Amino acid sequence: MNILEVTNLSKEFKLHMLNNKKLAALKNIHFSMKQGEIIGLTGKSGSGKSSLMKCIYRTYLASSGAIVYLSQKGSIDLVQATEHEIIALRKNEITYCSQFLSVIPRVSAIDVVCETIFKVNTDKELARTKAKMLLEQLGLATDLWDAFPVTFSGGEQQRINIARAIISEPRFLLIDEPTASLDSKTKDVVIDLLLDLKAKGTSILCISHDEYTLEKLVDRRLNLHLGKIDHTN
Ligand SMILES: Nc1ncnc2c1ncn2[C@@H]1O[C@H](COP(=O)(O)OP(=O)(O)OP(=O)(O)O)[C@@H](O)[C@H]1O
Ligand SMILES: [Mg+2]
Repeated sequence: MNILEVTNLSKEFKLHMLNNKKLAALKNIHFSMKQGEIIGLTGKSGSGKSSLMKCIYRTYLASSGAIVYLSQKGSIDLVQATEHEIIALRKNEITYCSQFLSVIPRVSAIDVVCETIFKVNTDKELARTKAKMLLEQLGLATDLWDAFPVTFSGGEQQRINIARAIISEPRFLLIDEPTASLDSKTKDVVIDLLLDLKAKGTSILCISHDEYTLEKLVDRRLNLHLGKIDHTN
């Protein structure tokens, strides 16, 4: 069963600084994704990987085409869906994990991790216990659990970001460069956590430049080249 079907997807940006010059970031993208599959999204810097992910999450509105997502309540085109429908899907099914943590001031690391779960589950202590387990697995020093992540290192912030994305076990996970600034031991932990999610049924679209992560994690790859899917590999 396909959880995602992308057809003829294009995204153009109008560059206001350059007299509204148009930049075609994605051109006629066409692919589908099976439920429980992990797809690795690869390609050179600027090839359109993050733009594609943001079109799926609807941070960007596609210029044309369709992105049909099979939700628990039936099929929905994420290009045509209302804001209300998108908010509900983000709350209950689809999680996006960007490359960088957008830090919430004066919220502890534990509570940053719990944020998504707090929205749907009122048992705060249970959520915090789960968060601690994840942070322990990810090797984040216990001294940092109650600290504010603003001052954390890149790798520490990335671990917080990953923990908060996976804690609620989303049905569909979009994850941008999950292992980029991690040491090899933590990289293995992240790969195992993502494979555990897959075993529970999560479908994952993962941007990565890291050959080791791709080898261990993904079922297949989609390579973007200048905004198009490159079918040569
Ligand atoms: N909001 C935006 N406004 C204008 N142009 C944009 C915007 N977002 C992306 N682009 C352009 O779209 C193209 C694709 O960018 P994108 O961020 O999707 O690449 P990427 O493959 O994720 O690269 P990287 O590996 O460096 O993260 C680039 O030329 C970029 O400048
Ligand atoms: Mg990117």
